[in-house]
Amino acid sequence: MQINTVSTQAYSDQKPGTSGLRKKVKVFQQAHYLENFVQSILSTLDQSTNKTLVIGGDGRYFNNDAIQIIIKIAAANGYTHFIIGQNGLLSTPAVSHLIRKYQAFGGFILSASHNPGGPDEDFGIKFNVSNGGPATEQNTDAFFSYSQTISSYKLIDLPTIDLNNCGKFKESGLHITIIDPVDDYAELMASLFDFDLIKQAVKTKKISICFDAMHAITGPYATRILEDILGAPKGTVINGIPLEDFGGHHPDPNLSHTKELKELMFSSNALDFAAASDGDGDRNMILGNNIFVTPSDSIAIMAANAQLIPAYASGINGVARSMPTSQAVDRVAKALNIPAFETPTGWKFFGNLLDAGKITLCGEESFGTSSNHVREKDGLWAVLFWLNILAKREQSVQEIVNEHWQTYGRDIYCRHDYEAVDSDIANNIMDHLRSQLDTLAKQSFGSYTVQYADEFSYHDPIDQSISEHQGIRIGFVDGSRIIFRLSGTGTVGATLRIYIEKYEPDSSKQQQDPQTALAELIELAEQFCEVKKRSGRTEPSVIT
Ligand code: G1P
Ligand code: ZN
Repeated sequence: MQINTVSTQAYSDQKPGTSGLRKKVKVFQQAHYLENFVQSILSTLDQSTNKTLVIGGDGRYFNNDAIQIIIKIAAANGYTHFIIGQNGLLSTPAVSHLIRKYQAFGGFILSASHNPGGPDEDFGIKFNVSNGGPATEQNTDAFFSYSQTISSYKLIDLPTIDLNNCGKFKESGLHITIIDPVDDYAELMASLFDFDLIKQAVKTKKISICFDAMHAITGPYATRILEDILGAPKGTVINGIPLEDFGGHHPDPNLSHTKELKELMFSSNALDFAAASDGDGDRNMILGNNIFVTPSDSIAIMAANAQLIPAYASGINGVARSMPTSQAVDRVAKALNIPAFETPTGWKFFGNLLDAGKITLCGEESFGTSSNHVREKDGLWAVLFWLNILAKREQSVQEIVNEHWQTYGRDIYCRHDYEAVDSDIANNIMDHLRSQLDTLAKQSFGSYTVQYADEFSYHDPIDQSISEHQGIRIGFVDGSRIIFRLSGTGTVGATLRIYIEKYEPDSSKQQQDPQTALAELIELAEQFCEVKKRSGRTEPSVIT
């Protein structure tokens, strides 16, 4: 095998964000751009005797070009065994599972998650380590710093690897396995949930289902599991064929981007259950007949019902949520007498807690939920978890949610995103907020009195690392919170996220529309951050 050393020049912008490096496709297509980043990852990680890598992506434009390049560089860096999804496809949770199952050194995931795809849209790459989870912040900082001074990368000559057919073959001394993207994942799901019970409920029409795969990676996974294995009627999965540009849509499962599903589920023809997942299959949105379950409520309800699911029947060790996620799951943890952890935004912060066995379930307000079965969030897993609860409890989504609120109180919640704000304006907004922190405590604003105002910093209880600047929190005496942070996944300007929540223990007041119930806090958020005033926007780009 002839290893070539190629001279290159560093790019200054290869700093991974909340979840890997995401840029416009055109940025990735610049000479040596992807090569530099892949070499930076491989040069930075501890050299190991384990030479197996998993590779796959969500099928977006540039997916398979990137896979061919990664194989050539990884092979030149000593990797010999490659497990690759057929046609280059693997969902993020499936990669996580494959790394763990086949004890790989790690894996490359090609995806920009919920960001749009296509030649003029976004591409992304992230590296997951041997526990199946995203590289830690220490790792990604090291990738970035290596990329700043890189002057060459290694590459071998290799014919184009055929990704179309499953099987094992050798090419230029490399062991290549092309695997069915769904098989191992479907087997894992069957081991966690009561498939017979769900099958029975589907067969007897106790649960009618629609799943929107948004022309993204979960199409083949959902079709196999929901239709072929669990027996849901053909057509249960809509938009099931993965497309390079996701059909021109934004593969983000929320009420703004799943119009078809929303119209169906908020009509008189609504089904019992509907769900959607994102570009790479790690997110989920849960809907019932005329009800949307906020992700913050979803993780709380899952924790409260975990004992009904075979894999979690013997109890859960603890739970974790990202800081801006509502406090609903904390209330369940308290009732179950198990620990609840609050971590910064981003799945990588759950890894240590999962590895140490401190938590079993975790979730984020951004439509992410999962458990210790993998080290990523897992969209279809969440869907199956809900189906298992519905089949077991024989109640509607609405009834389950209402009973949950009656028992624990409701954490009324919403998030307002201001996308593509000029970066200087966004940074000034954050500075302006920081400048108020010292004086806000104990001040009253209308019906709310500030209890604390700070910038969240996380002390990891397992490796003792400290992650600072993880969002600004303003907490009120009644438990309400307003949180501000800048997105770490956008590719254009800056996105300001404002998270607002209020606790409502009184069941006679729980059926309010969040925008109405939170109106006063929403006003206060503008008073504190002045995003409308400073950016000239009149309303958020997306409300979830
Ligand atoms: C967003 C979400 C975050 C999630 C990440 C990756 O990151 O807010 O919870 O982990 O996408 O899916 P952000 O853009 O806010 O940095
Ligand atoms: Zn995703």
